[in-house]
Amino acid sequence: MFDVILYQPEIPPNTGNIIRLCANTGVRLHLVKPLGFSLDDRQMRRAGLDYHEYATVKVHEDWVSCAADFSGKRIFAVSTKGSQRYDTNRYRVDDVFLFGPETRGLPADLLMQFPPERRIRLPMLAESRSLNLSNAAAVVIYEAWRQVDFADKLTRCQP
Ligand SMILES: C[S@@+](CC[C@H](N)C(=O)[O-])C[C@H]1O[C@@H](n2cnc3c(N)ncnc32)[C@H](O)[C@@H]1O
Repeated sequence: MFDVILYQPEIPPNTGNIIRLCANTGVRLHLVKPLGFSLDDRQMRRAGLDYHEYATVKVHEDWVSCAADFSGKRIFAVSTKGSQRYDTNRYRVDDVFLFGPETRGLPADLLMQFPPERRIRLPMLAESRSLNLSNAAAVVIYEAWRQVDFADKLTRCQP
């Protein structure tokens, strides 16, 4: 299944929401240090409800060691400055999605390490600033998961 990387996340409830999202979709979550909060943060745990035990979360000391875990895989950098619309790629079940920190986004030098077709953006109205990090993650994960026909994993939510 997919992997999601949060690069230096800053706001605890966003990471909590994404933990819950990952638990519900089978996505593995990676957090790249430094984090803007402790993993015991109450707001983060509250936003993640009791989903922490169902999500796989790995903390990486830095970007270089995190990236080493994904050699050979396709990493898509998700950014307001992306050049490719997120819904125009054909995703695969082993794809990886990298999101930036809430107040800064992905650093330009990191973003530029990816070819244009791997720098994806979500359309917004002109003059808009950005979406909330956990909303952006939900949109991208569900689009990718939809494209792989939900990877035959749907069980509990069937009508
Ligand atoms: C609050 S935004 C960061 C805002 C920052 N000023 C910027 O423009 O990148 C946090 C993260 O959510 C994701 N994000 C938010 N809106 C997005 C959009 N329209 N397209 C792609 N990614 C988006 C990106 O990963 C971004 O780094």
